[in-house]
Amino acid sequence: MGWNDWIRTVEVEPSLYAADFSRLGEQIEVLLLAGVRIFHFDIGDGHFVEPITIGPIVLQWISPIIHEGGGFVDCHLMTETPEKHFAAIKRSGGDSVTVHYEACPDLSSVVLDARALDLQIGLAFKPETSPAYAAHAALSGRVDMVLVMSIEPGYSGQEFMPEAYDRIRTVRSVLPPQVHVQVDGGIGPENIKSVRDAGASLFVAGSSIFGREDLPRAYRHLIQELA
Ligand code: DX5
Ligand code: ZN
Repeated sequence: MGWNDWIRTVEVEPSLYAADFSRLGEQIEVLLLAGVRIFHFDIGDGHFVEPITIGPIVLQWISPIIHEGGGFVDCHLMTETPEKHFAAIKRSGGDSVTVHYEACPDLSSVVLDARALDLQIGLAFKPETSPAYAAHAALSGRVDMVLVMSIEPGYSGQEFMPEAYDRIRTVRSVLPPQVHVQVDGGIGPENIKSVRDAGASLFVAGSSIFGREDLPRAYRHLIQELA
């Protein structure tokens, strides 16, 4: 099982980093019932990005809920030496690891580490990194997915950078169709369709879902914009 089995043409992925952590399990259940298939889980180490976010200790509690509901956990590693965390992520129920281009001088060996643990592997890159370089690294590294950051990684609730559209188009034009393009940061009902039209099929949404009172409604609103 991998990205191509999980994706129903397009997927809106709630970013759990923006959830109410006092009600995390409950919010996940509500979103599973609303039709969410893939949850995005942001791991930040306080080095690659400023904040220390969430990690395997939290993941181990929520992954059984997600898997029982037929879902998957997509882990975005905003960390140095991401491969050091793969085994703990796998043990805690993660299904996929996305590592940063800027943190992986030897991407091929990181990809092998993920495959050895039967984890799907994605490659993310920051707004200031050349999309052509990242896409070519993704091609030669044979990753399953590429994540275009439309904000500076670190925090939820930032504004979408419109320059991301060109980066999405560049990446999409270089990659073969089976490699999905994910976009993360500042996605909401006002821009999700344009992000799709630029070539993305996976949309991470933090505050545009968890910042609303009615989570299923916020999720459905995003889906409807894609219809
Ligand atoms: C931040 C994370 C994002 C974040 C997105 O660096 O990678 O996944 O939670 O949140 P929004 O959708 O609010 O920008
Ligand atoms: Zn993320």
